[in-house]
Amino acid sequence: MSILIRNIGELVTNASADGAAGQSAAAGHFVALSNAALIIESGQVAWTGPAADAPAADEVVDAAGRAVLPGFVDSHAHLVFAGERSAEFAARMAGLPYSAGGIRSTVAATRGASDDQLRANLARLAAEMLAQGTTTFECKSGYGLTVTDEARSVALAAAVTSEVTYLGAHVVPPEFDGDAARYVDLVCGPMLAACAPHARWVDVFCERGAFGADEARAVLAAGAAAGLRPRVHANQLGYGPGVQVAVEAGAASADHCTFLDNGDIDALAASDTVATLLPGVEFSTRQPYPDARRLLAAGATVAIATDCNPGSCFTSSMAMCVALAVREMRMTTQEALWAATAGGAAALRRPDLGHLGIGARADLVMLNAPSHAYLAYRPGVPQIAAVWRAGLPVA
Ligand code: NIG
Ligand code: FE
Repeated sequence: MSILIRNIGELVTNASADGAAGQSAAAGHFVALSNAALIIESGQVAWTGPAADAPAADEVVDAAGRAVLPGFVDSHAHLVFAGERSAEFAARMAGLPYSAGGIRSTVAATRGASDDQLRANLARLAAEMLAQGTTTFECKSGYGLTVTDEARSVALAAAVTSEVTYLGAHVVPPEFDGDAARYVDLVCGPMLAACAPHARWVDVFCERGAFGADEARAVLAAGAAAGLRPRVHANQLGYGPGVQVAVEAGAASADHCTFLDNGDIDALAASDTVATLLPGVEFSTRQPYPDARRLLAAGATVAIATDCNPGSCFTSSMAMCVALAVREMRMTTQEALWAATAGGAAALRRPDLGHLGIGARADLVMLNAPSHAYLAYRPGVPQIAAVWRAGLPVA
């Protein structure tokens, strides 16, 4: 069964002109065709090109001049939690700073929640993301911080996404106050053993107030020995070793990158560690935005993600993050769209996603607009007309 989408005003493929799925972490660029068509077959992109040359198909969808984009790839989210922290947000807007310590209040609420409560909250957020055009999302644990609570977090996450990240090293929980070393042993030992079967990635919050460089290295090495691939929360609240630790470990991404010195930028540019920027966090914490222009000028691969979580940023909207990247980080609309699709796919090492080259998974979004630029041009306005995942209409 094949589906032809014809009369596409702008088709963003992020793939070379012959439709080849050439997207890679280092070499990707925004690519779009106008007056285009696309054919989906067996859940994959089978053909793209000028509308006038489109072959016949079993079913035809008329895009009526609207834009079609790869589905958003949200490569950083924390969705397994209970409770909410709107009062903390309101206090920040009234002048208080963000601090990593707020994580503990979500840990307490999460530990006290039933599996069904956590599952329902996760399902609600996953549905919210899909309706907004996010066809793939990563999901971290990190609000359980006991062996049992982390294991159930990754198991619940694995029921809704293949991109599950074990983040036992989010903060040191209160019962280990004054004994971080013993907590790191737990994270690297029994907690990892319980979580690894459900996860693909290991992450650590490498930051003052969370885990230092040596602790982060130990967590990533233990995760790697258990078959998990590294990613790092790095340089969010201040300058520090996070990015260097990520690059040394061969991490797929260093996330946040809010405070980078020249050495950090050079290290990212010389590596295939993706710099994942989370501008919703800067919006929600009133921190300075990361310097995307310096990263791009240096040649680093940049992704954009939401960091959806109840503390530092409670948006699930990739469109909102694209708009912030354009307005506040001075990315072009093309760079921001690439970063939110192919960039996210690079950060998750998923060459089948983030582009609409031949053979890509047919994850696509049709906008109620003629061009991707409308995501930033009409901020805050719902503009998703339809969503397909693996070739099936899902929204
Ligand atoms: O990515 N930085 C660490 N973790 C989250 C925040 C979690 C929270 O405040 O609950 C983040 O911003
Ligand atoms: Fe995060």
